[in-house]
Amino acid sequence: MAIPIKGIILAGGTATRLRPLTSVTNKHLLPVGKKPMIYYPIEKLLGAGVEDILIVTGVEHMGAVVNLLGSGQAFGCRFTYKVQDEAGGIAQALGLAENFAGGSPIAVILGDNIFEDPLGPAINAYLAQKGGARILLKEVEDPQRFGVAEVRGDKVVGIEEKPTVPKSRLAVAGIYMYDGGVFDIIRRLKPSGRGELEITDVNNEYIRRGVMGWDLMKGWWSDAGTFESLAKVQQLVLDSPPKNTH
Ligand code: DAU
Repeated sequence: MAIPIKGIILAGGTATRLRPLTSVTNKHLLPVGKKPMIYYPIEKLLGAGVEDILIVTGVEHMGAVVNLLGSGQAFGCRFTYKVQDEAGGIAQALGLAENFAGGSPIAVILGDNIFEDPLGPAINAYLAQKGGARILLKEVEDPQRFGVAEVRGDKVVGIEEKPTVPKSRLAVAGIYMYDGGVFDIIRRLKPSGRGELEITDVNNEYIRRGVMGWDLMKGWWSDAGTFESLAKVQQLVLDSPPKNTH
């Protein structure tokens, strides 16, 4: 039986840090191991039993993404597509998913996040917590590259986006679960200093309301948005392939 949560993969953005690799191609179509990068988040959702998946990408690359993925029949799921006209931030891209979500809980994965753990346990923990949001954290050597969580006891008390002086080494992975209230939160966001609607502001609002759950990732996790992280992820995928079922 399908799990009662919808999946969303955010695969827009400009990927300037990977030029010229991304001058004419979408970052999420670049090869990682033997597959295009976007297969990894798709396989995580499928492994957790998610059957309805929305892919958000920019107008320039939507054709290539649809050519690659099709209706979802070949994957045993249903894909829906939504165009993000300009790279206005992760929260803006997520805002486009409101009709697709239709009030259901959602599991969101950034298309350049690749990780070892199966997603099923975190999704089940989220469904058991009955609403609110849930994030995944991973201890890293270079927290200033990410959203960084401050944890007190068993609670996340705040997240800072790319802090120069991080309060912990716990990076917020690009894997988020939300209830239907997320879209009202996004509507009230103001652009950050870098001109984007920030997912960290969304998460801080759930923290303020006291309804943010979290899990620590056990296996490896990496983004693939820089040459260094893309090279690292190639090696991780070869050495210890991602697990999709539990
Ligand atoms: O990888 C995890 C990190 O991702 C988190 O720790 C940060 O809190 C979060 O802000 C994000 O940081 P980045 O600066 O690395 O995000 P980036 O701009 O590289 O975007 C990540 C993915 O989000 C990208 O692969 C596609 C999607 N995206 C991004 C933007 C800006 C969109 O779909 N649309 C967008 O407009």
